[in-house]
Amino acid sequence: MILVTGGAGFIGANFVLGWLRDSGEPVLNLDMLTYAGNLDNLADLRSDGRHVFVHGDICDRALLDRLLTEHRPRAIVHFAAESHVDRSIHGPGDFVRTNIEGSFTLLEAARAWWASLAEAEREAFRFLHVSTDEVYGSLGATDAPFAETHAYQPNSPYSASKAASDHLVRAYHHTYGLPVLSTHCSNNYGPFQFPEKLIPLVINNALQGKDLPIYGDGMNVRDWLYVGDHCAAIRAVLAGGRVGETWNIGGWNEMPNLAIVRAICALLDELRPDPAGPRERLITFVKDRPGHDRRYAIDARKIERELGWRPAETFETGIRKTVAWYLDHGPWVQRVVSGAYREWMERQYGR
Ligand code: NAD
Ligand code: TYD
Repeated sequence: MILVTGGAGFIGANFVLGWLRDSGEPVLNLDMLTYAGNLDNLADLRSDGRHVFVHGDICDRALLDRLLTEHRPRAIVHFAAESHVDRSIHGPGDFVRTNIEGSFTLLEAARAWWASLAEAEREAFRFLHVSTDEVYGSLGATDAPFAETHAYQPNSPYSASKAASDHLVRAYHHTYGLPVLSTHCSNNYGPFQFPEKLIPLVINNALQGKDLPIYGDGMNVRDWLYVGDHCAAIRAVLAGGRVGETWNIGGWNEMPNLAIVRAICALLDELRPDPAGPRERLITFVKDRPGHDRRYAIDARKIERELGWRPAETFETGIRKTVAWYLDHGPWVQRVVSGAYREWMERQYGR
């Protein structure tokens, strides 16, 4: 079996569902169920004996030791993290705790477990660390996209904490020989994304006739990838990636935020017209995010060349699927936007 951390979050849940659909190998899913973790995402697996869910913290070394000894995973796929840049600006402490201390604790547990294995199992073991393109910092308009060799220049507490965990992962390979693999993906979108991130936030607000908040001038660029394509890339790296290497994952799909929001408005107008008029009327420019990175772009040639991975979705097909998913999953959205979500929206966007 494999151990997945953070498998009740957005990408982790998509990964676990896809893994069990395609491979059948059991999954041990360790997740602390923070505001971003949601067992509703895994509802389809309720009666699936191949999925074992454990409610727990990656900072809990005793728990990690017990899980590794009891379940003997052949690989760890590490998603668990605090992941939202705006929250890292309001409260960086949780990011340091989970992303740095948690990754460190997981590495320590993995190192001890791996060292105890017989040679064949030790050879086959993998620790796959899921990181982000944001560790590379911000690109100028004409700069080349991020290659794996790009210097680390993290600008937010989120990206700095992810960068720290990347360095620990690298060091555990270099110093102890732990068989690690690292991935750096661009911005994901798709089913189960918590509506604090741009795309689901805009879909949800637009459906309620609320303002669509655009930071600054709306011309910050992100390189968007459908979550299913990210999960397929992780599977490819786990299956065939050379130990100690890193892979950048992206869809060659750079778009400014304003174009993303306009595309969502057009799709919603088509699929669920608003009697009050086109949704673009709701676009509202708000105060910029402090330290807002201007542009991210991924050079994905290494994973394409070495592992034969390519995205299956274009932005047009992926965003259509995503908007349709949110339209079909009203109750899921209603449950996640109750309670603590309202406090976050008030804090971040309240006047
Ligand atoms: P998310 O915030 O939706 O989910 C994170 C999950 O981790 C949640 O289920 C949460 O409960 C769990 N978690 C948090 N702290 C934990 C702890 N201490 N112990 C155990 N579980 C804990 O995040 P996501 O968007 O799914 O991102 C997953 C990973 O992918 C992260 O490492 C992130 O840095 C990386 N990533 C995300 C994107 C993106 O666009 N969302 C892009 C590239 C990389
Ligand atoms: P986000 O989804 O938070 O991802 P990240 O900051 O990790 O790239 O934001 C994507 C882009 O959208 C980013 O440039 C910030 C911008 N944005 C807005 O303009 N308005 C919003 O309300 C949010 C949440 C993000």
